[in-house]
Amino acid sequence: MACFFRRSIAAQLSRIYGQHEEFFIPLLSVVPVSKKRPSPDVQLTVRSLVKSGVLPPDEDLAAQTSCLAKQLKEDGVVEDVIPGREAINFRINKLLLAEKLLDSVHTEPESFGLKSELFRSLRRGRTLVEYSSPNIAKKFHAGHLRSTIIGNFIANLKEALGNEVIRVNYLGDWGMQFGLLGAGFQRLGSQEKLKENALQHLFEVYVQVNQEAEQDESIRLAAAEFFRRLEQHEEQALSLWEQFRDITVKEYRRIYERLGIHFDHYSGESFHQSKMQDVLKDLQCRGLLKTTEKGTGVVDLSEAGDMSSYCTVLRSDGTSLYITRDIAAAVDRKELLNFDEMIYVTDKSQSSHFRQLFQILQMLGHRWAERCVHVPFGLVQGMSTRSGDVVFLEDVLDEARNRMLQNMQQSKTSKELADPALTAELLGISALIIKDLKRPLISDYKFNWEQVLQAQGDTGVFLQYTHARLCSLLRTHASVSHTHFDPHHLQDSRSLSALQHLLRYDEVLLQSSLELQPRHLVNFLITLCHLVSSAHRELPVKGSPPAVAQARLRLFSCACSVLANGMRILGITPVEKM
Ligand code: ARG
Repeated sequence: MACFFRRSIAAQLSRIYGQHEEFFIPLLSVVPVSKKRPSPDVQLTVRSLVKSGVLPPDEDLAAQTSCLAKQLKEDGVVEDVIPGREAINFRINKLLLAEKLLDSVHTEPESFGLKSELFRSLRRGRTLVEYSSPNIAKKFHAGHLRSTIIGNFIANLKEALGNEVIRVNYLGDWGMQFGLLGAGFQRLGSQEKLKENALQHLFEVYVQVNQEAEQDESIRLAAAEFFRRLEQHEEQALSLWEQFRDITVKEYRRIYERLGIHFDHYSGESFHQSKMQDVLKDLQCRGLLKTTEKGTGVVDLSEAGDMSSYCTVLRSDGTSLYITRDIAAAVDRKELLNFDEMIYVTDKSQSSHFRQLFQILQMLGHRWAERCVHVPFGLVQGMSTRSGDVVFLEDVLDEARNRMLQNMQQSKTSKELADPALTAELLGISALIIKDLKRPLISDYKFNWEQVLQAQGDTGVFLQYTHARLCSLLRTHASVSHTHFDPHHLQDSRSLSALQHLLRYDEVLLQSSLELQPRHLVNFLITLCHLVSSAHRELPVKGSPPAVAQARLRLFSCACSVLANGMRILGITPVEKM
């Protein structure tokens, strides 16, 4: 375990500088494994000592480095102190590395890395993550899929690191579109079709009534009338709306389940109507709500107070807007759920919406707005299914499953499976997730099914394949006990690379969590798979002397646990056979 090694080096630094050990632990980092050179194991940059005030700022870094290097000693843990230009590298005892690391994974496979001292300074508490948030009767597009995948990852990671997480789906379930839908449904809708395929039917009605409304004034009037009835909570209108909402939520629940995703709350824009009135009053009392010549209500966001930037919160007919509902939702959530931080996940086109939202919350005196974060992501081009552009989440999942099933049927290495369709589905979903989380979230990407579902290359299928192979190896040798093992048998370069890599797991989680960027974890797991594959090729278990086989099995089983844990944080269900 990384802590053990960091602690021991930190103890030396503590003796030299007189600060507490704890102080130095976050400054020590495990060096990434590289093919080109045998890497040293742990590194300390002298710059980090300067930055944290241990060393004076304006002295020569190289000189400071060599001076520090002379004071550091080799001991049972540190085998070699290697001064670089501005960093000191510590080569650690490799027998200890194998023994400590693999013991720690073996004793607590589920929580390996999660109790690291690196997380000590992390602020923990109640985290509200809002993600997915599709709109009723409208398309579920690639952006909603990204929000779903990314939000789930953030929620999983926060939870793994000891936060209490509340998962919220904020449905687009209010607004003028329900006037249209309601008016349309009365003429075009069918209860039967609604029962058969609710999402599809609502969408069809909505598309058709929209088209008709373009030409037909009377439909527009009927829609406005229906929405007015809704806003006034008229029973008949409301009960139709409720039916749409309930059916939609029920359908979504079922589909999210296929993705292994759940929410604690299905909230939505409709939920915060009474709070909206409070918010508007509050804005008014503080003199922040201005009425324009057009009769709209706006909040001046400019620094100079000259309306060079502003935000509309009220239409001239007195109805609310998207942002008004968001302000009310945030205040409500704070009151009801008392979060310590709140994270919104949407595409980057909404960045300025959230900047305005947070600014208005601040203006209303809500200091907690500082702890609201928007995680923006880039656009996906070209995600389509056989039936055309993505309209429903379920179509994407079906497409991924069917294509994967076909790939599996063509592959020679496929195993006999109890439920091939289920395995194909899990593989297809892993592929979507890795494609989505591999790059900086903000970057756009082009979507291509063949590429996404490949078994070679850095894909989700490759992760699954590696995991399944490890499981198969462990199954084959299930009778060999590796409760005890001799670390002398894990001193070859392949084993050591894998061990050194595993040692970085906590740092990688920390980085992903500080930046809210999954790619650090994704890349870690991909590298782990490459290292494990080459170890698997070169270090046979079968036919090796028992002690060697034992040690190797221990390494493979620990790698398998860490791989599975990491995959689960990303939202992937590891398969044991494929
Ligand atoms: N339903 C919105 C859309 O599809 C996303 C909601 C994002 N969350 C929020 N609190 N505004 O664009």
